[in-house]
Amino acid sequence: MKTINQTSKLTLIVAVSENNVIGKDNNLIWHLKNDLQRFKALTSGHCIIMGRKTFESFPKPLPNRTHIVITRQLNYKVPEGVMVVSSLKAAIEASKEDPRPYIIGGGEIYKQALNSVDLIELTKVHQTFKGDTFFPEIDDTCWEEIKSKYNEKDEIHQYPFSFITYKRR
Ligand SMILES: NC(=O)c1ccc[n+]([C@@H]2O[C@H](COP(=O)([O-])OP(=O)(O)OC[C@H]3O[C@@H](n4cnc5c(N)ncnc54)[C@H](OP(=O)(O)O)[C@@H]3O)[C@@H](O)[C@H]2O)c1
Repeated sequence: MKTINQTSKLTLIVAVSENNVIGKDNNLIWHLKNDLQRFKALTSGHCIIMGRKTFESFPKPLPNRTHIVITRQLNYKVPEGVMVVSSLKAAIEASKEDPRPYIIGGGEIYKQALNSVDLIELTKVHQTFKGDTFFPEIDDTCWEEIKSKYNEKDEIHQYPFSFITYKRR
C-alpha cells in the first residue's frame, strides 16, 4: 500500500545478493561495471534520495544528480548543492518536481521506502555474500516482475547478475 502521495513515479534502485545482502562496513561488496553504468544511466538528471550513511560512503557527490540526504542530525554539513532533510517524507516532498526520483539506499531507507515506491529496479547478483546490511524480502503478492535480463559472468564481471524491474500490483 502506498503511504505517501505524490504525482511523480518514485523508483527504488538496489543491487542485492542471493541472500539479500546489499553492503558491508558501509560499502558495496561487489564491483559490476554494467550495473554501475545502468545506475548512472537511470539516475542521471534526477533526484537521488539516500540515508546519511550511504551519502558518506561516496568519495564525493555523484555528478549530474540532485542529492537529498536524510539525517536526524540538525547541523549536518554537506557540500554546496546537496539537500539535507530530516525524514523520508520530507525527502519525497523535496523531489516532487522530478517525474522520476530514485531512492538509492541504504538498508534503513529501503526498509522505510518500500511501501511508498511505484517501481523497483533491482540488480540480483547471483552469489551469496557475508554482509551487515540487507534488503527486505520482495513480496510477490505486492510486486509483479515486468522485466528481467540475465547477464553471464565474463572477464569484466566476476558474478552473473540479472536486471529485474518490479511494478507494484
Ligand atoms: N547494494 C546497493 O544497492 C546499496 C545501495 C545503497 C547503499 N548500500 C549499502 O548500504 C549500507 C548503508 O545502509 P545503512 O542501512 O547502514 O544506512 P543508510 O540507510 O544509508 O543511512 C542510515 C541513516 O539515515 C538516517 N535515517 C534513517 N532513517 C531516518 C529517518 N526516519 N529520519 C531521519 N533520518 C533517518 C540516519 O542518519 P543519522 O544517523 O545521521 O541521523 C541513519 O543513521 C552501506 O553498506 C552501503 O554501501 C547498498
